[in-house]
Amino acid sequence: MAEQFFIPGEQRAEKVKELFTIVARRYDLINDLQSFGLHRYWKRRVIQFARPQPGDKALDVCCGTGDLALGLACRGVQTIGLDFNEEMLRVAASKAQKAKMGKAIHFVNGDAEAVHFPNDSFDIVTIGYGLRNLRSWETGLLEMQRVAKPGGRLVALEFGKPANPVWRSLYFGYLRLFVPLLGRVFCGNAGAYAYILESLKHYPAQEGVAAKMRDFGLRDVRIISLLRGVMSINYGVKG
Ligand SMILES: C[S@@+](CC[C@H](N)C(=O)[O-])C[C@H]1O[C@@H](n2cnc3c(N)ncnc32)[C@H](O)[C@@H]1O
Repeated sequence: MAEQFFIPGEQRAEKVKELFTIVARRYDLINDLQSFGLHRYWKRRVIQFARPQPGDKALDVCCGTGDLALGLACRGVQTIGLDFNEEMLRVAASKAQKAKMGKAIHFVNGDAEAVHFPNDSFDIVTIGYGLRNLRSWETGLLEMQRVAKPGGRLVALEFGKPANPVWRSLYFGYLRLFVPLLGRVFCGNAGAYAYILESLKHYPAQEGVAAKMRDFGLRDVRIISLLRGVMSINYGVKG
């Protein structure tokens, strides 16, 4: 079922695009249901860690329907949301219009693995539930670092892998059984949501991302564990 969307290698991006085209219209609703609304709180934590200051410039990569980008723009930050899926971007733009965000926010079509902005452009670079979806999450992370200014904050929210084996099995069981059911009921496609667990299995999660942040020379690298590691925020500052 999940194999329908998770394929390693070159064709991965096309499959991921296809998946988000299917789910775009129901994406926010399913996020609320599958996390019992908690994703809103976790995204607020991302914004807190980004320490937005008026006048800052921010880039939110893999912005999807724009929650993080909108959260940053609300704090007076000039924000760009970047995603390669037109359907997700359309939902994001309509949310920005409803929130009367005006010129504080722009959504652009682009590739998180080859970001079309120069080096040292942004004070804040965020990504929410994006790294796990990339063909190479290391390339995505390196791109985030490249476009951040020296002293810029990188903040990544993603599904985690809890250290406690019992808690991890319960949580993986939830992702295996309940989450695809939501996909079937609300999008007519269980595979699109079975994909979360499959992609997570191929992703090193919080510890692997923190290690790579250190390898890349980021400083103040931190892991913020949410729900005992079910979700996590990786934080680092460009040196
Ligand atoms: C799970 S959604 C996350 C949306 C949003 N950031 C959130 O936190 O709710 C992942 C998003 O990453 C985008 N994406 C995946 N690979 C990408 C890539 N290589 N370049 C740009 N966007 C990508 C998808 O189109 C999708 O909108």
